[in-house]
Amino acid sequence: MSTPHPHRVPRISVVGSGRVGRAAASALRAAGYEVAGPVGRGAPVAPAEVILLAVPDRAIAEVAAAVRSDGALVGHTSGATTLAEAGVDFGLHPLRAFTGGEGADAFRGVGCAVAGTSPEALAVAADLARAVGGEPFEITDAQRAGYHAAASIASNFAVTLEAAAERMAEASGLPADFRRHLVPLVRGTVENWAEHGPRAALTGPIVRGDEATVARQREAVAAHAPELLALFDELCDRTRALARTEESPV
Ligand SMILES: NC(=O)c1ccc[n+]([C@@H]2O[C@H](COP(=O)([O-])OP(=O)(O)OC[C@H]3O[C@@H](n4cnc5c(N)ncnc54)[C@H](OP(=O)(O)O)[C@@H]3O)[C@@H](O)[C@H]2O)c1
Repeated sequence: MSTPHPHRVPRISVVGSGRVGRAAASALRAAGYEVAGPVGRGAPVAPAEVILLAVPDRAIAEVAAAVRSDGALVGHTSGATTLAEAGVDFGLHPLRAFTGGEGADAFRGVGCAVAGTSPEALAVAADLARAVGGEPFEITDAQRAGYHAAASIASNFAVTLEAAAERMAEASGLPADFRRHLVPLVRGTVENWAEHGPRAALTGPIVRGDEATVARQREAVAAHAPELLALFDELCDRTRALARTEESPV
């Protein structure tokens, strides 16, 4: 997989040999870049025009200061960390979860939040994202916390919600492996949301205005998994608000 580069191709050093560092080095290499690393803690960092830090957020500022050399552009792969607090020139945050086993195609089709302290730094981040098959979009330091919250709601909280569904099923006496019956439901819902948007994807008693059924559900939650009641009530309120939004044309 070799992608034509619109600008001169820089040499890249990747620092941090964890989940993202290994995937980034392998994807950049496959895209035709000359890549050194990824190097782990304490290992020498090869001189390069671009130094990409894939270290834990709390270590970025210290590592950035340590690796900075004349002329090198230093960037991080963090979603939450501003360029200002990290003291880096660019950011390239792939909007996906890495678990460690990803290959060179890990960035293909993935949205990548890019940022730069200069047009040159921003262009480098966008070039790297495109070269590995990602889709760059720009974010500012001021947008980062909100951007990262959106990502957490979409991904982390979705897992929390599915865990709550499993808990409710278990508390109601359904089989221990009930997750396998929830999975097709959830996949279908995500596909509908992706294709048609939230209002059209919304099904169930609330959007049908069937408050009697909602009340029976609430009684079951209160009886069998009362620790979920506050979450249930809040989600009912948010779902009623979504149901009231403009009818989807779909
Ligand atoms: N994982 C994801 O899903 C994901 C997705 C998008 C963005 N990110 C971002 O990518 C960055 C890296 O995350 P990750 O998940 O790849 O973390 P990770 O798997 O924990 O890997 C971090 C690596 O950095 C190394 N490290 C720590 N301090 C270092 C130092 N001073 N010098 C060199 N290496 C050092 C660690 O080594 P030790 O093991 O010796 O500590 C570890 O190998 C973070 O900014 C994170 O927010 C992660």
